Amino acid sequence: MVGKEKGFLMDQQDKKVREQLAKIKHKIMVMSGKGGVGKSTVSVNIAVGLSLQDFMVGLLDVDLHGPSIPKMLGARDLRISRKPDGRMGPIKYSPNLKFLSIEPLLPSEDTAIIWRGPIKHSAIKQFIGDIDWGELDYLVIDAPPGTGDEPLTVAKTIPDAYALIVTTPQEVSLIDVKKSIRFCQKIKMRILGIVENMSGFICPHCGKPIDLFKRGGGQKLADEFGLRFLGRIPVDPRVVDTGDTGRPIIAAYPESVTAKAFEELVRNIIAATEEMKEDVLEERFMRIAVPVTTPPNKIEPSLENFDMFLVYDIENNKILVKDLVKKPQNQDLFSFLTEQVATHILLYAPPKELADDLVKQGIRVLVAENSEENPDSLIEEYINQKSMH
Ligand SMILES: Nc1ncnc2c1ncn2[C@@H]1O[C@H](COP(=O)(O)OP(=O)(O)OP(=O)(O)O)[C@@H](O)[C@H]1O
Ligand SMILES: [Mg+2]
Repeated sequence: MVGKEKGFLMDQQDKKVREQLAKIKHKIMVMSGKGGVGKSTVSVNIAVGLSLQDFMVGLLDVDLHGPSIPKMLGARDLRISRKPDGRMGPIKYSPNLKFLSIEPLLPSEDTAIIWRGPIKHSAIKQFIGDIDWGELDYLVIDAPPGTGDEPLTVAKTIPDAYALIVTTPQEVSLIDVKKSIRFCQKIKMRILGIVENMSGFICPHCGKPIDLFKRGGGQKLADEFGLRFLGRIPVDPRVVDTGDTGRPIIAAYPESVTAKAFEELVRNIIAATEEMKEDVLEERFMRIAVPVTTPPNKIEPSLENFDMFLVYDIENNKILVKDLVKKPQNQDLFSFLTEQVATHILLYAPPKELADDLVKQGIRVLVAENSEENPDSLIEEYINQKSMH
């Protein structure tokens, strides 16, 4: 009985998370392989920058060990609001920027807490499901460094989040970016692009940019992996000051070279998120799920036996990732496909009702002519046929 009850609660939580996510247009997780490259600085400045462009923006700090967003926003005294219906709201920073961090929920700022994996997981889920963020254009998520529990949980909780990878010009950091890129490919998180922070230097005396270290590594790396390069931000002493005093540079010194660099980054992010959506509409990006038999060499024809799925990520007519995924037994097909962020499903002789329902959910249905053919060759065939048009 207990087990059942717990399962029920989890379903409720998942449902709340899904409902909330449906109200958020674009989700961006800011990540890096290495610590201290400026993820929080970038998160705060792009969130403020987007809000200054009249978008509704949420900023979520999922760094449970060292939250820095409240300090960088100068908003450590602000508290979580409670709505009349009892639900909690995020903290209002300005009319169109709300944020949330673990810090205001702790009894004192020096409280050291030890988070175990499962608790981290539910804390991050609660940040989404229990908090009424309302309708948002952008949710910016500041992840802690590395490819550990938190970014993984974010990816699982917010399956349609894009990754924004922050790097610095140093060689070591570029190696870390490769790690982040591989991590994203493994967990099937689409990458929005790369930002090179601390690239060049702004003279504290004259405010002009100076190239101290070599730069351009981020651009090279982006080219190498076929990713967007979204911008570079110079080293600027005022970034540190404004971070400490809680007024992000993009708002505090809007005329400065660095603020302009952040503004350009924001413009590129807006364009890139729109492109990512168009890529799906125009099938430049596809994620095709195929229910398969065991071993996975044929399409599983009957809905009752949909259990294992091959999931293909296809970008510009090339298969990037192919993955065998097990659908949890108690999960329905639609939730599974939503969680996988599938754009297409390949089926053999689907009942009309099922196909219609899938299309209604925004999932395109491809139909195989016989159930004997190998899924790989069917996918290849579909790609070839498309690239000929
Ligand atoms: N462009 C920049 N110019 C000067 N200082 C910067 C710049 N970007 C970040 N910093 C400074 O570097 C330090 C680390 O930045 P930040 O906290 O944003 O990094 P992070 O990647 O979030 O770190 P962590 O991995 O610990 O979460 C901060 O003191 C910040 O003010
Ligand atoms: Mg940080």
